[in-house]
Amino acid sequence: MPRKMTKLEAVREFEHKAAERISASDRLGFHLTPLVGWMNDPNGFCYYDGAYHLFYQYHPYSTVWGPMHWGHAVSTDLLHWNYMPCALAPDTVADAAGCFSGSAVPMPDGRLLLMYTGVQPAGTGHKELQMQCIAAGNGRDFCKDQHNPVISTEQLPDGFHAVDFRDPKIWQEGGTYYSVIACRHEKHQGSVLLFESADGRQWKFVSVLDSSCGELGKMWECPDFFALDGMQVLLVSPQEMRATADSEFHAGEGTVALLGLYDPATHAFARQKVQAVDYGLDFYAPQTTLAPDGRRIMVAWMQSWATVPGTPCAGGKPWFGRMTLPRELTIKDGRLYQTPVREIETLWQGKTELSGVAVEERAALPGISGRSLDLTVRIDVDASPECRRFTLRFAEDAALYNEIRCDLDRCELAFDRSHGGSRRDIPHTRHIKAAPQNGKLTLRLILDKDCAELFVNNGERVLSAVLDTPLEAQGITFGADGGPVNLDIVQYTLA
Ligand code: FRU
Repeated sequence: MPRKMTKLEAVREFEHKAAERISASDRLGFHLTPLVGWMNDPNGFCYYDGAYHLFYQYHPYSTVWGPMHWGHAVSTDLLHWNYMPCALAPDTVADAAGCFSGSAVPMPDGRLLLMYTGVQPAGTGHKELQMQCIAAGNGRDFCKDQHNPVISTEQLPDGFHAVDFRDPKIWQEGGTYYSVIACRHEKHQGSVLLFESADGRQWKFVSVLDSSCGELGKMWECPDFFALDGMQVLLVSPQEMRATADSEFHAGEGTVALLGLYDPATHAFARQKVQAVDYGLDFYAPQTTLAPDGRRIMVAWMQSWATVPGTPCAGGKPWFGRMTLPRELTIKDGRLYQTPVREIETLWQGKTELSGVAVEERAALPGISGRSLDLTVRIDVDASPECRRFTLRFAEDAALYNEIRCDLDRCELAFDRSHGGSRRDIPHTRHIKAAPQNGKLTLRLILDKDCAELFVNNGERVLSAVLDTPLEAQGITFGADGGPVNLDIVQYTLA
């Protein structure tokens, strides 16, 4: 009698067949989408065996969230991805209700170690449980450890909840493995716990690195922790945040960078500064890795739980969810900056350059249009003394447009997709601070079909959003109120 297929074999067969029905043109140009079905958080982002590996939260069987698997793709340039077969399926006692988010690290013996959250279903007398599991493999096939879970809820210090203990980010330093894991404390709420291990299997609790304490949401998800430009960065994705008066954070789910100092002797993190990671409408659960050339690269789920449709896209795409463009991180003057990975320059095609253009009445400019482009607009604020407000419309046709409005008096910028064609009552607008630097305000907009990423002032602030505008809407127009605005524009089409 033929052997019954394992759950993972069945998924791999299913996704392979289903993916054959999706052509490259149904996907985005250079943003990763799931092989089939649903995608959320980036997982296991690493450089291993000569390539970047990016795993993701994956439900291959439909375009809505379901029992979590790990999808997998590899790339040598962070822009062109090759799909690998599904890496993990929820097929053991330790992860029967899902293989939740986690990370990866190359091992000294040449294998790749995955660390993820195994979710155990609620049972008689207990709620759902979240514990940490590992699997090791060759970069394609992974074998789950027979001792899973390797970190159980019994190892949690007092006051921490076993139902909210997830998303381990593992790394290795000086021969020791470390992992930061999110957990909710009954009083201090969202917290990040540090664990250590000599072999990746036996783990010990070390310290609580930081907690929300009522300021930054209730539960923190998907932590990351790394040194950068002389500081230590703790990234977290908090749930249920309150909006702040300074418009740094909006209500709901957010992404927060805590910048500070870390003492490796006491394993204490001293937070000094707090900022949003991305100010847009669709950005969550970022994860970073170190490139072989030393760059710290971050990628995130280009979505937010608040903007996810509740039902499968009727008659729509056979996939849902995408990753942001990978971004290089740096710290300048105590702030986290992000710029698109420099590899994007390899996609630059036709260049259009317009210098010292004065615009007042809304106008299109020669050669500036499209939905796959890298467009930099530099507003010479000092040379536009009468101009009160500058607007850039993109993905525009006779009826629809998306808009960036810069209030030059108040040094504020609004990103607004509310006229972009959506029929859904979800947030469509965000406001951020945007002050000129040396008399200039720089907007770099990267469009890849329905993905828009706006880098303000060379990455001082970034906004990511998914557009609802049909791809035929290719227009870009410029306008000013009060008096003419003086612009320098460079556009590359991307292919
Ligand atoms: C964040 C998250 C993680 C969890 C995963 C489940 O978006 O909620 O905390 O591991 O998604 O898919």
